Amino acid sequence: MLNWLKGKRETPATAVVRIQRFNPDVDEKPYLQEFEVAVTEDKTLLNVLHDIKTMTDGSLSYRRSCRHAICGSCAMNVNGMNKLICHQRLKDNLDWQGRVTIRPLPYLPIIKDLVVDRSSFWEQYQRAKPWLVPPDDVPEKEFRMTPEEVEALRNAETCIMCGACYSACPVVALNKQYIGPHALLKSFQRVMDPRDTIPGERLADVGTDEGVYRCHTIFNCIDACPKGLDPAGAIETLRKLAQKREAFEEARAERQQQ
Ligand code: F3S
Ligand code: FES
Repeated sequence: MLNWLKGKRETPATAVVRIQRFNPDVDEKPYLQEFEVAVTEDKTLLNVLHDIKTMTDGSLSYRRSCRHAICGSCAMNVNGMNKLICHQRLKDNLDWQGRVTIRPLPYLPIIKDLVVDRSSFWEQYQRAKPWLVPPDDVPEKEFRMTPEEVEALRNAETCIMCGACYSACPVVALNKQYIGPHALLKSFQRVMDPRDTIPGERLADVGTDEGVYRCHTIFNCIDACPKGLDPAGAIETLRKLAQKREAFEEARAERQQQ
């Protein structure tokens, strides 16, 4: 205890993992179930769920695939923050009593235990037309880019669609019409890509009350992103560009002629 107060935390031999359980066939509402697990240096929270499922309770349900912070399927709420649990060590997430609490992503319907229904997430993503619309005739010379466009693509293209930002946004929780930070980040990526031929149409689509003007700059999306991306900054840029979309399209066409 004294070492913990001094900031020197010793790794305990065991930890209490509190997991939110809910089986819609038998439970009226979700509840927390505690499991005692051994703590080892590199054990991740995903390892913990796997151990519990294989050795203690085979009915525990959760999603995972890659185990390397690439697929985005293991996003969950850990001690109140959305995280990729395959990328989180157990020992780093324990409180001073040696406990950690894992819940499903908030604001989304629970299918079972830690598995949520992501339908609304994908439906909103589709609204952003996430695909690239290239020109019919690909020019022989390269597409010219500004430094801002290069930086924008670097920011947005590493999104793995885990849903952490979407389910951390209180506006999404209150208004299911809001397209959400994940879709706006993808729209931003396409708008800033000089190969795309419909930036004006995209800006018109997101420059609405269900798009960039619904964001209240709460910034939970930045804190939640496990890849350190900046959806709020992307939304701010889209807001500015939506007001001058014709000039933006003209400037891009002019640059390609140079
Ligand atoms: Fe939501 Fe992020 Fe805007 S948390 S309100 S999308 S800044
Ligand atoms: Fe793929 Fe965690 S299992 S991101």
